[in-house]
Amino acid sequence: MQYRETYQAWKTDPEAFWMQAAQAIDWVRPPTKALFDEDAPRYEWFSDGVVNTCWNAVDRHVEAGRGAQIAIHHESPVTHSTKGITYKDLQTRVATLAGALRAQGIVQGDRVIIYMPMIPEALVAMLACARLGAVHSVVFGGFAAAELAVRIDDCTPKAILAASCGLEPAHIVHYKPLLDDAIERAVHKPDFCVIFQREQEVAKLVEGRDLSWHGFQYGVEPVDCVPLAGNHPAYILYTSGTTGRPKGVVRDTAGHLVALQWSMKHIYNIEAGDRFWAASDVGWVVGHSYICYAPLFAGATTVVFEGKPVGTPHPGVFWRTIQNLRIKSFFTAPTAIRAIKRQDPTGEWIRRYKLHDLQALFLAGERADPATVDWAQEHLGVPVIDHWWQTETGWAIAANPLGLGALPIKPGSPSVPMPGYEVAVLDEGGNAVPAGTLGAIALKLPLPPGTLATLWNAAERLEQSYLARFPGYYETGDAGYVDADGYLYIMSRTDDVINVAGHRLSTGAMEEVLASHGDVAECAVIGVNDPIKGQVPVGFLCLNSGSTRPHEQIIDECICMMRDKIGPVAAFKAACVVDRLPKTRSGKILRATMAQIADGTPFKMPATIDDPAILDEIEKALAAIGWPAAR
Ligand code: COA
Ligand code: AMP
Repeated sequence: MQYRETYQAWKTDPEAFWMQAAQAIDWVRPPTKALFDEDAPRYEWFSDGVVNTCWNAVDRHVEAGRGAQIAIHHESPVTHSTKGITYKDLQTRVATLAGALRAQGIVQGDRVIIYMPMIPEALVAMLACARLGAVHSVVFGGFAAAELAVRIDDCTPKAILAASCGLEPAHIVHYKPLLDDAIERAVHKPDFCVIFQREQEVAKLVEGRDLSWHGFQYGVEPVDCVPLAGNHPAYILYTSGTTGRPKGVVRDTAGHLVALQWSMKHIYNIEAGDRFWAASDVGWVVGHSYICYAPLFAGATTVVFEGKPVGTPHPGVFWRTIQNLRIKSFFTAPTAIRAIKRQDPTGEWIRRYKLHDLQALFLAGERADPATVDWAQEHLGVPVIDHWWQTETGWAIAANPLGLGALPIKPGSPSVPMPGYEVAVLDEGGNAVPAGTLGAIALKLPLPPGTLATLWNAAERLEQSYLARFPGYYETGDAGYVDADGYLYIMSRTDDVINVAGHRLSTGAMEEVLASHGDVAECAVIGVNDPIKGQVPVGFLCLNSGSTRPHEQIIDECICMMRDKIGPVAAFKAACVVDRLPKTRSGKILRATMAQIADGTPFKMPATIDDPAILDEIEKALAAIGWPAAR
């Protein structure tokens, strides 16, 4: 079936559609129905099925005779190494790690934080948790200790699995000291930590708390997969909201399995034995869904890539990897392609490699601008498929499904809604707007399998953040429009979230950091356009009256505080001091207008502005730090 018939089949009978999709999963006991809507607007999928995620990712492929196939390639240009792990080897590693965790007292429902760089052990750790029914929460390595501490206190893990270090091109990331610092700051203390020692930096273990990765697995009994209810939480993944407190997105086991398995075949056109690569990080949703789980559910080969699109060692490293590993579908963020394009505008590095196996490039994580899509399509000679989704949904809301016969590509659009998603573009009053008109993008409830089940420790926040504004709908936080052919265009966020190099960050969280500086009376952070990263944050500081310290010094301190409290991933490198912030008469800071000034885009004077003269001051302050002219 092609896209339109498939979407129609879902719309006509969603229950039959998802029950049919569920047949691609190995169940201990199959579910009697797909949707459980007794607690609407809270929905669950396949709740009475009994199943195990790890079995579907690993063991069933060994049973089916795929034991000798490579499950995970570790491609690490930063350590100059490449190696493969077969499904059989993966099964042994996962069952043994799960056995060691169980021997230390980890049981179904316990939380385990995973804080690791891009090494296969990160996937082994996720799968070992899944084998036991322990709920993992993977934390991205680019976050500071304070952010890790917030997550430790929110999900109260019994154990933390970490590596001694991570490797960025120019420096070593000292994971273990960051972990020690985070545990020190957190109120909750884990029972134990397990440290994978890397040869580039061997960490000192804390006696009585830290165990060594290999040592604690020595001589333990491997364990089998634990049968779990379909609505057992598979994992918690924290993402940025409008405040400093991140939201712990919880995904249920069975819906996650069914949706991701469906997506591999129908969106990415990947089946057992194929080779698939998502160049992201396990700390993000793309890493969860498309580095770890979905390719393994499908019995494909996945890639753990430890490097950058440029500089490790050159802008051809993606294409070299695609050639050497014979990748069929490749997935990255537009920012990575922009970084490559800047260093290789004529595509010379692309032509050096044979990319015969590559059928498509998938882009997500931020808006794919038409210039980037056109450049990649011209030089790679394969379809470049933008698709739109969020941490909350776990898989694509809109895409151009290659496995269902791709539709014509319209650069700038992530194409059409996937089965399971009914997309609406709404005005302030919640009424649908005509084609071509910009509005808030909302998804009709229920959301499909694999999407967020709840927010950890904050079920009421789920309602407030996503369900309250448009009754009967999930509010995505994105704004855009649908064209006359039903193609979606995602143009901006409707909240204070910004997207820096494909990483989702909260300007609200950054403002909380700036506000904690002793000289800062008031502040604002906005996202400003950046040719490579899409957006970068810029801070505005109003100082306390009587503050006499040099502005440069205060700005430097603020930049350091942001690195220390949120992490280098925030890429917070620019701030300026202003006397006042532009506000509406009711006191709301006019962030959108400030961003337009910084971007050099024409703007309309807001009718509600309190004092228009402040905008000149903002313009001067931005010009002094190079915006927008220098860019
Ligand atoms: N652990 C620790 N630190 C990390 C990190 C990690 N996993 N990832 C990034 N950082 C640090 C970097 O070292 C850098 O620190 P610095 O300020 O000391 O140099 C900072 O965080 C910002 O990193 P990054 O966003 O990677 O910027 P960059 O300038 O080093 O590289 C790109 C720019 C475009 C090449 C890079 O951002 C990139 O590859 N982006 C793709 C993002 C992606 O795949 N997103 C997934 C969404 S699908
Ligand atoms: P994250 O939860 O980190 O995956 O970020 C999700 C947000 O990134 C979305 O809500 C969008 O704002 C943005 N985003 C992701 N993919 C796309 C895309 N293909 N086009 C436009 N914006 C996107």
